Amino acid sequence: MATGSCDVAVVGGGVIGSAIAWRCAQRGLAVCLVDPDDGRGAWRTAAGMLAPVTELHYTETPLLSLNLASLARYRDFAAEAQDLGGLPTGYRECGTVTVAWDGADLAALQDLQAFATGLGLRSRMLTGRELRALEPGLAAGLPGGLLAEDDHQVDPRLLHAALRAAAANAGVERIRSTARPALSGDRVRGLVTADGTAVSAPVVVIAAGAWSAHLDLPETVASPRVRPVKGQTLRLRLPVASAPEHVVRGTVKGSPIYLVPRADGEIVVGASSEEAGFDQRPRAGAVYELLRDAQSVFPELGEAVFAEVSTGLRPGSPDNAPLIGPAGVEGLVYACGHYRNGVLLTPVTADAVAELVATGTVPELIAPFLPARFDEAVATG
Ligand code: GLY
Repeated sequence: MATGSCDVAVVGGGVIGSAIAWRCAQRGLAVCLVDPDDGRGAWRTAAGMLAPVTELHYTETPLLSLNLASLARYRDFAAEAQDLGGLPTGYRECGTVTVAWDGADLAALQDLQAFATGLGLRSRMLTGRELRALEPGLAAGLPGGLLAEDDHQVDPRLLHAALRAAAANAGVERIRSTARPALSGDRVRGLVTADGTAVSAPVVVIAAGAWSAHLDLPETVASPRVRPVKGQTLRLRLPVASAPEHVVRGTVKGSPIYLVPRADGEIVVGASSEEAGFDQRPRAGAVYELLRDAQSVFPELGEAVFAEVSTGLRPGSPDNAPLIGPAGVEGLVYACGHYRNGVLLTPVTADAVAELVATGTVPELIAPFLPARFDEAVATG
């Protein structure tokens, strides 16, 4: 493939864009992946929880089937990326323990467990004693918790590198630049990079996370309804023997906290959630609150080595669900707005977009998540 033309141009080289590019290339398409590679992607900050049960929100059940479909693909997806990319992904089937801080939290967890069970999800309540038998480093006196045995993790930084390598090995061409889609009449004809280079392509996929609504689209095109939601995570290090074995989540006096332990003793602590535009500077108060709450739940973290603070922008959408599918202009496809579930939804998004691009048919799984749902909401007012 000569630079300057391809079958599919993917704008955004995070985990989702890279996976889409890879899957499209595996279908025999010539693919360009365009990204400035400036390290701002949400995948750098994400902890990588694969957590349909413990990320379950009462108002988000339409999203659950997509989350579950993606989780069901994860083991094979990660193994294939590792195999074909030649790099590890950090996929770990470790399960998740959510701890209750007090009696009110315990009651809320019982409600969540009943709700999850009603939706066919596997989880079970734990007494305080069972909790500490499972994770001896948890704070004394916690009244109980919930074990979600199917909520696992992947390391998004490793996954990203593996996906990039798998994509390169499948023939994906990388262009290091920002880019804007270019139209000819009412259809896409490709994109233009920051230095003015035109790349012609009959299909352009926008997978630029929180930046997807800021790509200088022509006025005739409805930008995706995506906004940045700032999140901060910390990376700490403990000796492996002192670290938790499961992902540990909880709410400490109203503030959610999670600890995601990697196999090598790194523990990702997250996450703040702030509407702060595109400001990616770390906020001292968020670091303090995360350390305070993490240490309350798992006291040994006071002895951990502080390795890093990282700030990313979740791509939020009006209903917290992603926008996947045709964008209303022939050849333009959106794959953005994944909010808190971008890493989890990577396999199913990549498969669905590759199928859409290769066959022209919208896969049934993504039908509830078409970008046009927001246009209709406006039209019917
Ligand atoms: N999925 C975890 C978060 O968004 O913080």
